[in-house]
Amino acid sequence: MDIRIEHVAKSYRLGQVEVTALQDVSLDLAAGDFVSLSGPSGAGKSTLLGIIGGLERPDRGKVLAGDQELTALDSEGLAMYRRHSVGFIFQAFRLLPALTAFENVMIPLVPLGESDAAKQKQVAQALDRVNIAHRANHLPGELSGGEQQRVAIARAIVNSPDVILADEPTGELDRRNGELIMQLLRDLNQNGSATIVVASHDPDVVGAARRRMVMEDGCIVSEETQEA
Ligand SMILES: Nc1ncnc2c1ncn2[C@@H]1O[C@H](COP(=O)(O)OP(=O)(O)OP(=O)(O)O)[C@@H](O)[C@H]1O
Ligand SMILES: [Mg+2]
Repeated sequence: MDIRIEHVAKSYRLGQVEVTALQDVSLDLAAGDFVSLSGPSGAGKSTLLGIIGGLERPDRGKVLAGDQELTALDSEGLAMYRRHSVGFIFQAFRLLPALTAFENVMIPLVPLGESDAAKQKQVAQALDRVNIAHRANHLPGELSGGEQQRVAIARAIVNSPDVILADEPTGELDRRNGELIMQLLRDLNQNGSATIVVASHDPDVVGAARRRMVMEDGCIVSEETQEA
């Protein structure tokens, strides 16, 4: 899915103080792009991911995702977009501790109108894809950090999203597990058509991306493209 971001600005009001998170960001993402966002803390990386994923609305500018204009959708429309088109991966995994790996991966499918059997099959396939099927009935607390992140990735891909957004996905992992996670994202990108945008300070993560963007003070200040 192609995504076009046109002159997007976003600020947050904290009491009397207005904090600018994005100043004027324009960006075109083509289906199948693998993009990294790096840059200092507070540069606006997470905010930009939130806007691409329909979690947040810009104050100004336009966001087009496929044939939908996100900035014109109501909250229900945005929720539908997230459910059907977006997968999120977070630094802290954000698995629900009382649910098994299998049940955690099922969560995004719950609101969808398919049969239970079809949903269970999708969950099994997603767990298999990230090599964690043998831990399906474990609780997050019984899994290592790398395993928990694989479950979180299974949850992010279970709805076959067009866009996968990852915010510091290797931040809590050791180097080896971080590399495994990045290999997995690369694989999802190459063997699927998902557009991947990953925010990270980690040079290994940036190295995995084909388009490498740097943000500063709410702007994209540079981009390098790595030819395959
Ligand atoms: N919910 C919020 N309320 C108020 N200010 C916010 C909120 N979210 C972000 N900000 C502010 O917006 C700016 C951009 O934040 P953002 O989280 O996008 O940065 P980042 O590049 O992801 O940083 P980091 O590398 O630390 O994750 C920061 O100044 C931040 O304090
Ligand atoms: Mg962030």
